[in-house]
Amino acid sequence: MGTYLDRIRPEVRRSSGYSLDRPHAQVKIDQNESPYDLPLEVKQQIWDRVRDRQWSRYPELIPARLHEKLARLAGWKPDGILLGNGSNELILALLLAVVERGVRVVIPEPTFLLYRLLVEVLGGDVLPVPLRSDLSYDGEAILKTAVERDGALVVVCSPNNPTGGILAPDALEQVVRGCPGIVVLDEAYFEFAGMSGTSLLPRFENLVIFRTFSKAMSMAGMRIGYCLGHPALVAEMAKTKLPFNLNLFCLAAADVVLERPELLERRVRDIVSERERVSSALKRIPGVTVYPSYANFLLFETVHPPATVYQGLLSRGVLVRDVSRHHLLARALRASVGTPAENDQFLTALKSFLERA
Ligand SMILES: Cc1ncc(COP(=O)(O)O)c(C=O)c1O
Repeated sequence: MGTYLDRIRPEVRRSSGYSLDRPHAQVKIDQNESPYDLPLEVKQQIWDRVRDRQWSRYPELIPARLHEKLARLAGWKPDGILLGNGSNELILALLLAVVERGVRVVIPEPTFLLYRLLVEVLGGDVLPVPLRSDLSYDGEAILKTAVERDGALVVVCSPNNPTGGILAPDALEQVVRGCPGIVVLDEAYFEFAGMSGTSLLPRFENLVIFRTFSKAMSMAGMRIGYCLGHPALVAEMAKTKLPFNLNLFCLAAADVVLERPELLERRVRDIVSERERVSSALKRIPGVTVYPSYANFLLFETVHPPATVYQGLLSRGVLVRDVSRHHLLARALRASVGTPAENDQFLTALKSFLERA
């Protein structure tokens, strides 16, 4: 006798879903968030705008003003922009538009896990392309797989999460030029790399770029993301995203924050300089390997099992991410760049753990 759960699609039943361990810790550097909250005066300005709106009414269906501001920021067309409830929602919108049973999606791995999870839930086939042993992207292998296996979609996170590496601009261009399908360039961390693929947009209609307010823009709690792409492609994605997906808080917050670019620039500079300081400090600790990072986090390895390092740090008040699920990362953990004081606490905790381990 079947149960009502048999009505759930097998792909969904098989999925582990997205999960996250979130114990409390004094230093929380596990989710690549910004350690710097928005200043109170900016929050007040957002609140003033929200208070003056009529809450009984739906927000705008197409937030045209915000599209124009984002277009100016990114150097792209307002009708080639789509806002999402976090870039996560845009990832889903694109996959819903492209993936069904048997559709192939090329994913260099390890990378942001959500892509694989959603492709599998939709019944698509993930074609994994492993990173090289030094965790760099293999652009030729990505392109070869996409061409030979007719990938409908290729996913490139640059900078990549959790490794911090990038796909070099010339390799990216070759992938976008040569792929038979759509290429997603996920730029969740592009501000920390100081580079972007936007210059490819006018030449390649099969490219779509995802960005977020969750990292450099200090607004992970708000859930705002956007994509940049050819208007025809963006129009298709708009059909699979929910209407009114951004509530009036998000819309006001995005609008206000985009008027304060100086806040962002200073913080990005601070985080990048801290990243380099922490990276150098990690390199000096015997038995620790750290990978080059273009993002706001660092991937590091020790000789100990990552689960033990994770617990050792947690017991010292520091929460990092154990990213060792992928075989290329068997010894790896990821730490976001925090404030200078948080970073010092992380370094002290790691040294203390290693001395006793
Ligand atoms: C590569 C990448 N893309 C997208 C996201 C999701 O961001 P958002 O908060 O905009 O949904 C993350 C979050 O960690 C990420 O690492």
